Amino acid sequence: MTPFTFLRCTLVATLVWIATSCGSVQAQEQRRGVYVSPTSDTIHPAVAKHGMVVAQERIAAKVGADVLARGGNAVDAAVATGFAMAVTYPRAGNIGGGGFMVIHSADRHEDITIDYRETAPAATTRDMFLGADGKPDIAKSRDSALGIGIPGTVAGLALALEKYGSGKFTLSDLLQPAIALARDGFVLTDDGADTLPDWHRRLARWPATKKIFSRDDGTSLRDGDKLVQTDLATTLTAIAAQGPRGFYQGPVAERLVDGINSAGGIFTLDDLKTYQPVIRAPVRGSYRGYDIVSMPLPSSGGIVLMETLNILEGFPMPELRQGTAPSLHVMIEAMKRAYADRARYLGDPAFVNAPIAILIAKDYGAKQRASIDLDRATPWTDALSAVPPREGSNTTHYSVVDAAGNAVSNTYTLNFSYGVGLVAEGTGVLLNNELDDFTAAPGASNAYGLVGFEANLPGPGKRPLSSMSPTIVLKDGRPVLVTGSPGGSRIISTVLQVIVDVLDYRMDVASAVAAPRLHHQWLPDEVRIERGFSDATLAALRAMGHRIVEPMGQTSANSIAVTPDGLLGAPDPRTRGAEASGY
Ligand code: DON
Repeated sequence: MTPFTFLRCTLVATLVWIATSCGSVQAQEQRRGVYVSPTSDTIHPAVAKHGMVVAQERIAAKVGADVLARGGNAVDAAVATGFAMAVTYPRAGNIGGGGFMVIHSADRHEDITIDYRETAPAATTRDMFLGADGKPDIAKSRDSALGIGIPGTVAGLALALEKYGSGKFTLSDLLQPAIALARDGFVLTDDGADTLPDWHRRLARWPATKKIFSRDDGTSLRDGDKLVQTDLATTLTAIAAQGPRGFYQGPVAERLVDGINSAGGIFTLDDLKTYQPVIRAPVRGSYRGYDIVSMPLPSSGGIVLMETLNILEGFPMPELRQGTAPSLHVMIEAMKRAYADRARYLGDPAFVNAPIAILIAKDYGAKQRASIDLDRATPWTDALSAVPPREGSNTTHYSVVDAAGNAVSNTYTLNFSYGVGLVAEGTGVLLNNELDDFTAAPGASNAYGLVGFEANLPGPGKRPLSSMSPTIVLKDGRPVLVTGSPGGSRIISTVLQVIVDVLDYRMDVASAVAAPRLHHQWLPDEVRIERGFSDATLAALRAMGHRIVEPMGQTSANSIAVTPDGLLGAPDPRTRGAEASGY
């Protein structure tokens, strides 16, 4: 038995007890109906000449576009939009969570990323999310204050502005719209109004949260109601006055620690004080002459995306034609292999030494491609790679491009919709449950059904492995596509399909974003689909041995294409309220 077969056998044995359901998040999303893709003649991109923000919530998109119109660059606008969405889109916009930003700086001829992912508190232990029986206890990581990671958004956005802003706007300038929206309130509508009543019971477990999101009679705020967040305005004002210190130290930090620990958490003031966002070199690769710039670890996004693209590059995708069974089959098989590698090898780079260079190499893509049978689905146990062992739209993505050709691709999250649901009393800050993205025990899965092993076990100061994949596609050094998505495990396959539809199938960005999507993540061994694929296509995929499951939870790939005709914005039509705002 070679070392690799031994590993595979151990893995298969471990997997026998894995729960393969996709968990409560997708189920909640699916209750609200299924996206049916519109016909292409009803889908058109929004056009802007100089600058554009495409975001999930219209007020925040406009806040960013105003900054662009006032001479700000893409980073200035992204920072303003990020803080505004913490107020207007509390489902996923946040200062109590974390995320990732990819920046193409035309001014400096540089592509960089900012990792502002949450970290685990210093008191975190490896078995923290296990029950008395030694098995994963999902209530601990998903529904309790133990699942809260040290928030990274404030530090991340401030760092982006300091290093890559235009210098024309201070952090305080860019916070003012968010402060006014929190203090004066705004009318709840679109996706916020569609989701808040569904999640209200979970939020109302905590009195400080219930006060903010309820009507006087204690029921959920609804479409047309005003959401006022006075404490949040005070917290944002402290950040405007003192920078990140106003959040990570002093009264706000003290209230955060008190609120979180009274709810059963394990935060210390030092955890907050020592939080650091990280500037990281992006994952870079190429696909048919385009450069792909995406998020590195601790997000798996860029690596899994590049591995799938490298596999697909050797197939004649344009000849296979968009949306046909042969084209979908090779995409599914590519996803299956890359997600298997994700589970095996990926985790926080400060703790694990993943074989990144191998996974994103063209020759590894070729090896993986050679294992694909063009007529048959590969059983999941065979989809494990041969690398030597060394590695619900509850999130939100927005894309920004400015007149100078700078671009920002930003995805950030509280993990579940409205995070764990806890607002620390007196702060207005809704907190995440990001630590559920750790693997509670080798072979266990998170809320998105993503399986993991040693590389992603919890640990003090560790960042849980993410799937968020903010991505910028360049041609000859200039951005042509800025994209990304929410959707947990489905984020990476969503970004893949948008890229393939634009680059291989020459679809305009709005049609590419609207086209029906599917998803395979190695385990569970099934293809989740949106409605919109033809019966004949699905029958052909089934005949190849694919297990087709519907529906798939919603993703929302708010994207911008940079074209000779101007900036083309594609707010994803799947979720109410997405908006392209430009000038
Ligand atoms: O970082 C991740 O991959 C997840 N915490 C993202 C969660 C998410 O996209 C939820 N949306 N459905």
